[in-house]
Amino acid sequence: MKPLLVAALALGLPAAALAQTSPPAGSPRLPPAAAPSPVAAAKPAQLGLCVACHGENGTARQPGTPHLGGQDEAYLALSLNAYRDGSRKAAAMNAISNALQPDDIEALARWYASQPGFRPPAER
Ligand code: HEC
Repeated sequence: MKPLLVAALALGLPAAALAQTSPPAGSPRLPPAAAPSPVAAAKPAQLGLCVACHGENGTARQPGTPHLGGQDEAYLALSLNAYRDGSRKAAAMNAISNALQPDDIEALARWYASQPGFRPPAER
């Protein structure tokens, strides 16, 4: 009996340990992908170069222009750097990103990532 009890305990312990570290059912481990950055971003100095097309809050104002609000910050910075070095080609963005310094790119990426995501016109 004793060896059996020891075996049962040995098997039971890891399960108990797992049960303690697992989150309760239904509680997600990661925040939702579109969660805005917790730190409110200051308005970037160069935001004025972007608003005519992407809007101040990242909801695009021009047909054919992507919404930027709530987009992943690292992706926004990567895209701007790619337009700037010419590895990603789109005439308007290649021209505009030439006017940006690395600090501007960082500030603009942080700003747009912290804005609410796209809302259809009826909800704006
Ligand atoms: C004249 C209109 C216009 C202006 C002004 C403009 N953009 Fe764009 N932007 C576009 C268009 C059009 C695209 C899509 C280009 C493509 O096909 O890659 C784009 C793409 C982007 C993307 C990539 C989005 C994605 O989902 O891949 C980023 C980031 C971006 N713009 C940031 C900016 C920022 C920051 C500014 C201001 C410094 C700015 N844009 C100014 C028109 C504009």
